[in-house]
Amino acid sequence: MSNLLEIKNLSVVISDDKRVLVNDVSFELKAGEAVGVVGESGSGKTLSALSILGLLARGLRIDSGEINFQGKDLLKLSTEEMREIRGNQIAMIYQDPMTALNPVMKIGDQLMEVLDSHEHEIADRKAHILNGLAAVGIADPDRAFDSYPHEFSGGMRQRVMIAMSLLLSPQLLIADEPTTALDVTIQRQILALVARERKRRQMSMLWITHDLGVVANLVDRVIVMYAGRVVEVGTVEEMFKAPKHPYTAGLLASLPAVGNNREKLASIPGVPPKPWQVINNCAFAPRCSSAKDICFSHRPELKNNQTGSVACFFPLGGAS
Ligand SMILES: Nc1ncnc2c1ncn2[C@@H]1O[C@H](COP(=O)(O)OP(=O)(O)OP(=O)(O)O)[C@@H](O)[C@H]1O
Ligand SMILES: [Mg+2]
Repeated sequence: MSNLLEIKNLSVVISDDKRVLVNDVSFELKAGEAVGVVGESGSGKTLSALSILGLLARGLRIDSGEINFQGKDLLKLSTEEMREIRGNQIAMIYQDPMTALNPVMKIGDQLMEVLDSHEHEIADRKAHILNGLAAVGIADPDRAFDSYPHEFSGGMRQRVMIAMSLLLSPQLLIADEPTTALDVTIQRQILALVARERKRRQMSMLWITHDLGVVANLVDRVIVMYAGRVVEVGTVEEMFKAPKHPYTAGLLASLPAVGNNREKLASIPGVPPKPWQVINNCAFAPRCSSAKDICFSHRPELKNNQTGSVACFFPLGGAS
């Protein structure tokens, strides 16, 4: 499989003071592959995704790096070229559907607007939209077409947003915690729906979550982020069977047991560093039970081995 997306040494900073929020992040996504991005709140997951789409908030800036999509560096494209890629080739679904939906516009009009804003060869636009709504499990697409977002439940709005993101058959779908606000049953339905559509369309996917359990059945590989950096990359099986980074092991230990609903079994003691702290050692060392002197004085590089990559001087299982 060739790479659809290659992020190389991406750093995102606050423009004013150059505080680093995403720090030298590199990873790739093969055509048709689904990858999970996992880490605690503040680890830089959303900023990495927004960088791909060229949607960083004012005041933030990409300080260095490359984002190659189908061989083109997105960071070198004009605003116009980027707008054409967004929605058309790379689409995003957000945690809160109202980020993408306009509350005072009928759903049908909003979906029409998405089609109108891009070049495509869809002859019957309304039929295409109704098919799209039906495909995400909306029972009465005609009625949905003429409804406002507030007439729907949270789970239904999330389906509408997924339909919107798939309208132009993007090659890459980025999902940023789109099920966190939903109850467990609806969450499962949405995950199954996205998994099915991804398979059917052979679409690549980047699924962002703080919960490794959510992505386990959905993705091929997982990227673990901590304090703005990638600390481990590996296949789902490898990561669940033999996590290499003590942080990944901690994330796994804090997963709820099967059937035990949301109760946490254990949690990693301590809190991540704040983004204004300049860290030249292992950022996880203060929370790590296996940390030794070197972890407090040097920063481990992300090193590849046969089963993945890890940034740790003393990886679990002895591999490095
Ligand atoms: N516009 C901004 N200005 C200043 N700091 C920001 C801005 N946006 C994000 N940050 C900071 O950058 C860091 C990374 O943020 P990001 O949103 O990528 O985290 P995340 O991993 O997506 O977390 P969460 O799980 O809470 O969504 C955080 O410390 C956050 O406070
Ligand atoms: Mg986020």
